[in-house]
Amino acid sequence: MSNVPFKNPGWAGNTGEFDLTENQIRGDDFVGERPAHGGHASGAGTMPYMLSEKQPDAPLFEGEYRERLDKVLSRYPTKQAALLPALGLAQEIRGHISPESMDEVAEALGLSPAYVRGVATFYTMYNKRPVGRHLIQVCTNISCNLAGADDVVDAFLKYTDTGLGETSEDGNFTVIEAECLAACGFPTCVQINSRYYENVTPTEVPKICEHLKGQGE
Ligand code: FES
Repeated sequence: MSNVPFKNPGWAGNTGEFDLTENQIRGDDFVGERPAHGGHASGAGTMPYMLSEKQPDAPLFEGEYRERLDKVLSRYPTKQAALLPALGLAQEIRGHISPESMDEVAEALGLSPAYVRGVATFYTMYNKRPVGRHLIQVCTNISCNLAGADDVVDAFLKYTDTGLGETSEDGNFTVIEAECLAACGFPTCVQINSRYYENVTPTEVPKICEHLKGQGE
């Protein structure tokens, strides 16, 4: 796959004008067909760019992140409009958005802490507490449920030796249930970080988890 810098014309919050390679945007596993570990090629369109090396102790919006925030801000007419991608950057750095992180975002954007908290707590895509390196969200809504999603949840919990919402001892995995992920034609659908895994069955769970551990993110 080409490593020529790729100007993604999409959402500026995570991608636009950052001189990222196509691999960085689409993920190293994107090969235009279903990868052997179960990821579905159609997930390419649902994978925003995410740094693989998280820096949980770094201050928000310094250095490279300050530059990225400035680029984001230049794309929106108001600070309020730039809040969602700004929160996305905060989560990219720390893996979750604590009340303290929300306050830092509020200060950086000149918004009230209450406004930022209202927005951040509305969206489930922002993790309000620490999660494992791989956040496994199993859809248990109607289509996936009829296809055996509960068994997929149980398989992930058994493999990771956790309960729902708990993080595994090695810090690798947190398993939660999700509402419809809009991939009802491919049950059971599982979202792991930003990537979709479709048609997942309990027997595939160990293979998927081993693959994730091997990524060393
Ligand atoms: S019900 Fe699972 S993706 Fe819609």
